[in-house]
Amino acid sequence: MRVLLTGGTGFIGSHTAVVLLEGGHDVFICDNLCNSQVSTLDAIEAICGRRPVFFEKDIRDKAAMRSILADNGIEAVVHFAGLKAVGESCAKPLEYYDNNVAGTVSLLQAMQDAGCRSMIFSSSSTVYGTPQKLPLTEDHPVGGVTNPYGRTKLVIESILSDLCAADKNFCAVCLRYFNPIGAHASGLIGENPNGIPNNLLPYVARVAAGLLKEVNVFGNDYPTPDGTGVRDYIHVMDLARGHVLALEYALKHPGWEAINLGTGQGYSVLEIIAAFEKACGKKIAYRIAPRRAGDIAANWADPSKALKLLGWKAELGLEEMCASAWNFQQMLQKKSN
Ligand code: NAD
Ligand code: UFG
Repeated sequence: MRVLLTGGTGFIGSHTAVVLLEGGHDVFICDNLCNSQVSTLDAIEAICGRRPVFFEKDIRDKAAMRSILADNGIEAVVHFAGLKAVGESCAKPLEYYDNNVAGTVSLLQAMQDAGCRSMIFSSSSTVYGTPQKLPLTEDHPVGGVTNPYGRTKLVIESILSDLCAADKNFCAVCLRYFNPIGAHASGLIGENPNGIPNNLLPYVARVAAGLLKEVNVFGNDYPTPDGTGVRDYIHVMDLARGHVLALEYALKHPGWEAINLGTGQGYSVLEIIAAFEKACGKKIAYRIAPRRAGDIAANWADPSKALKLLGWKAELGLEEMCASAWNFQQMLQKKSN
């Protein structure tokens, strides 16, 4: 396949690029580098001996996207590009709607012009809002999202559904990710957010590395076994593999699908801290802090649709997730010394 990854130098995109290249596919990346570095391309090449073709472009640049798609005979787009910080989306909603929603519409128009009719879209379990029942199946009602970031995902899913209704040859697979963590086993690529991390795993990794003092556990009075929030953490390499299978599926099945990518198993914040302590062999300091606004108590996936349609299921467990995240953190430290 000749595949374009928008946002392909980012966390999930770079891991997917590796799996696609290793599978013999031709990978093209378009990224404006607003949340990633061009050096990721060197890391990808070091891992798999092949380098994606790179375009430093914004997905909102329709003319550029049109020529990237047409000139390179792109058969499908995996659309990772987007802004993803929940708190920032509340402070800057228009930036989020412009980048994520308007950017996707512009990209879809460029795809239409270039005759490319397959998209795998990075959606999120956030579209389910507060779960009415667990595990979450794809037919669980969507909505009730508490922030503009989550609403961009909902709106884009609907846009894709409308497009598939209008163009019977268009395929759109919305992959609803649960909580992606971990890194490639080489430690050359992983998740390295700028500033203080919002997400639990990179925060815990920096505490383990001595770069931050302690983890703030946001609430221990949720109706969960130990009172802390429960999430379905999924290894980014399992997630990456899911995209390759989704691409193969999309090229054979026109129409719209939403598919959960999760393990089906939830872990609490305290269980994550304990697992990371085991991976790094150190105590991780934490304190109980107030609940974070907008957080839900628990969510985890029913991943059976992914197994049925894609033949995909998560293979890597929490131990591998924490060990690979710790390995990546140590590689970062080595580089900065
Ligand atoms: P990331 O920030 O590491 O990667 C996104 C990439 O998109 C970055 O490299 C960024 O520079 C690029 N980008 C942003 N806006 C762009 C634009 N207008 N034009 C071109 N490039 C642009 O994030 P990630 O964790 O790899 O997430 C990838 C996708 O998955 C995002 O759409 C995100 O919303 C979604 N998602 C992520 C998570 C998660 O926890 N990481 C969970 C659910 C969904
Ligand atoms: N948490 C802490 N301390 C921290 C950070 C997080 O206790 O410093 C807790 C949260 O309260 C939550 C759990 O750890 O219970 C996970 O929080 P994350 O911020 O890592 O992840 P979320 O589940 O809040 O959200 C993530 C992504 C969203 C995405 C969602 C579902 O950030 O973009 O998963 O895919 F939509």
